[in-house]
Amino acid sequence: MENSRTRIILALDFPGEEAMNRCLKELRGEIEYVKVGMELYYAAGPRIVDELKQRGLKVFVDLKVHDIPNTARGAMKSLARLGADMVNVHVAGGRAMMEAAREGLEAGTPAGADRPLLIGVTMLTSTSQRVMNEELLIPGHVEGVVVHYAMEAKRAGLDGVVASPREVPLIKKTAGASFQTVTPGIRPAGTAQGDQVRVTTPEEAFRLGSDYIVVGRAITAAEEPRAAWQAMLAAVESAGER
Ligand code: C5P
Repeated sequence: MENSRTRIILALDFPGEEAMNRCLKELRGEIEYVKVGMELYYAAGPRIVDELKQRGLKVFVDLKVHDIPNTARGAMKSLARLGADMVNVHVAGGRAMMEAAREGLEAGTPAGADRPLLIGVTMLTSTSQRVMNEELLIPGHVEGVVVHYAMEAKRAGLDGVVASPREVPLIKKTAGASFQTVTPGIRPAGTAQGDQVRVTTPEEAFRLGSDYIVVGRAITAAEEPRAAWQAMLAAVESAGER
């Protein structure tokens, strides 16, 4: 598969900058796109985004905003000023919140810069069918709910959604091929599933049509992160050539 490197987002889930730097050093020259989630962002602060941008990396700021529309608008305005390439909100926050988030993002994007992609979180890939039905009291099948959330996100003007790779074919069929899909829950064959439930291998995720995959512990917690990354890339590339 051509250019798979730019479509693999490495989740930098670290307690601070030191651990992050150790990992990035090991993977030097390999990574093009990283994700800063709550753990690192809350520890290192917003300047971490600029720091990563200075190193030539693209940055997905994964703070999963879910609040009243006015607060979501302000949060997105602040995030746009940081120079992120991708940000996200929970679709469960509702259409008005998603629309406000988009307005905030547009208002905060510096003149001449590209607006960050705005992605909606559908159902977390750690949520099972049982948890969704019995704990969250949402009836139906996960896939149906995810597709409904994707359409809500599209109607609110979002650029795409986060979902499990397994849900991508139906999302693309319903929301259109250009509606972006970002898929965590990636586990190369033989690696631990951990707390993720709705998982696939990286090559399967791309085969199903994911635009971006998000990979964390399978690389960052591997004994040899560089070897794990290269093995994953080779598997993705050889699957793309078949
Ligand atoms: O280590 P692992 O590959 O499971 O990391 C997945 C990353 O993707 C984590 O940073 C997690 O916060 C994020 N994520 C997720 N499910 C979503 C949205 C984001 O797992 N629906």
